[in-house]
Amino acid sequence: MANLFSNYIDGKWQPAKSSKTFENRSPANHNDLIGLFPASDAADVDAAVSAAKKAFASWRLVPAPKRGEILYRVGELLKQHKEELARIETCEMGKVLKETRGDVQEGIDCAFLNAGEGRRLFGETTPAELPDKFAMSVRMPIGVCGLITPWNFPLAIPTWKLFPALICGNTVVLKPAEDTPHTASRFFEILVEAGVPPGVVNLVHGRGEEVGAALVRHRDVQLVSFTGSAAVGREIASVCGQNLKRVSLELGGKNGQIVMEDADLELAVEGALWGAFGTTGQRCTATSRLIVHRAVAAKVTDALVARAEKIRIGDGLDERVEMGPLINQAAREKVLRYIEIGKQESARLRTGGAIQNSGNCANGYFFQPTIFDQVKPTMRIAQEEIFGPVLSIIEIGSFEEAIAVLNGTPYGLSSSIYTNDVTRAFRAMRDIETGITYINGPTIGAEVHLPFGGVKDTGNGHREAGTAVYDIFTEWKSIYVDYSGKLQKAQIDNN
Ligand code: UN1
Repeated sequence: MANLFSNYIDGKWQPAKSSKTFENRSPANHNDLIGLFPASDAADVDAAVSAAKKAFASWRLVPAPKRGEILYRVGELLKQHKEELARIETCEMGKVLKETRGDVQEGIDCAFLNAGEGRRLFGETTPAELPDKFAMSVRMPIGVCGLITPWNFPLAIPTWKLFPALICGNTVVLKPAEDTPHTASRFFEILVEAGVPPGVVNLVHGRGEEVGAALVRHRDVQLVSFTGSAAVGREIASVCGQNLKRVSLELGGKNGQIVMEDADLELAVEGALWGAFGTTGQRCTATSRLIVHRAVAAKVTDALVARAEKIRIGDGLDERVEMGPLINQAAREKVLRYIEIGKQESARLRTGGAIQNSGNCANGYFFQPTIFDQVKPTMRIAQEEIFGPVLSIIEIGSFEEAIAVLNGTPYGLSSSIYTNDVTRAFRAMRDIETGITYINGPTIGAEVHLPFGGVKDTGNGHREAGTAVYDIFTEWKSIYVDYSGKLQKAQIDNN
């Protein structure tokens, strides 16, 4: 009998109202059935939203430092169960244990950061124009938040959204990715154990087209926070626009790493390998373009190809494995399509480019680390997000050209430059059009206390993480207290 998992609504674990379920299988071995999860629909979303709406009435009045105490407990529990959670993630998502431990660590960091913020959530106090009058601004919670999260960071990304939402006094309904429901269920057990009151957090499993769409359209959901593809982000934004809901979008990337001729080349190669093939290239921040100076291109490319061919592919639970599978069949087909596109565009396939299905890779969605060189900046493999282990190498002849190529895509999430020239480094920090820039480090590896997000088609101007995230999860209220005992007219009496 397969394990049967539930939704968590109004403080109760329960099946979908329709009793329908869907299967969750390991991407490293599709014979491995992890469990059956509720295939929920609009009726379940409705129940979850009404529970969240009811709970908001009291949760918003719990002092933020008290809400923070619960988050401290959540952080402690995540720490205690780090290894267990990492294994659950690796089983259902595929990335190697070292990385899933990092994913859980990011959730732990996020818990403590937000717990502490319960004692701050600063507004402003400021002089008023008129005598005997006091002025201040405070952050107010918004209400019910609909959170829709992807499978590539099954724990970290839900925590990026859920913890700030809670510390600000909101209540939430989470719709996790259907490829990684187990991590979300275990996370919710921890939230319950830590003492998050019933109705404050609700979990509804199921497909985006059903659960996500119902959540986005629900009139009692005041805010939607979504991480995923640009195509779905646009749809969500238009529904939210029509209904005047707040919406925060974290979408795709086509992140580039520049390698100048003065760089430490060994360091640059190591960074590119980690950025391109870590998480099997399935990070929004993954390095998918290497923009390398002509003078060192051959040396860098040869070193990368040699190292990529040595990457050990397999089940992420095996500690010796360095790269796990892609998430599912559709992802593998998409990567294969882009390999064909790259060949047709006359890029040169230097290594990889094929499914890996020999030996212990026979039953999973494995793919070889792939490198194309002779890539032109306008080719589709240099413009479109592939979300797999595919690196496109573009040669440039100058710093100015490198910046122009880096900026020449519709996206703007992460970027990096390897150079030992301080002038170039500072020019890059100023002129690169992305939300995150690394100097002498790869494009992946953002820390939770700085803003996370991108410019251009990567999002709609919001940021997660850091303290910037509170601008999504709160409304500003300006408050004036007149203790003069008389009617004072601003802009009139004092002029
Ligand atoms: C993502 O891929 O959406 O910066 C998140 C990083 C990680 C988070 C990635 N800390 O690579």
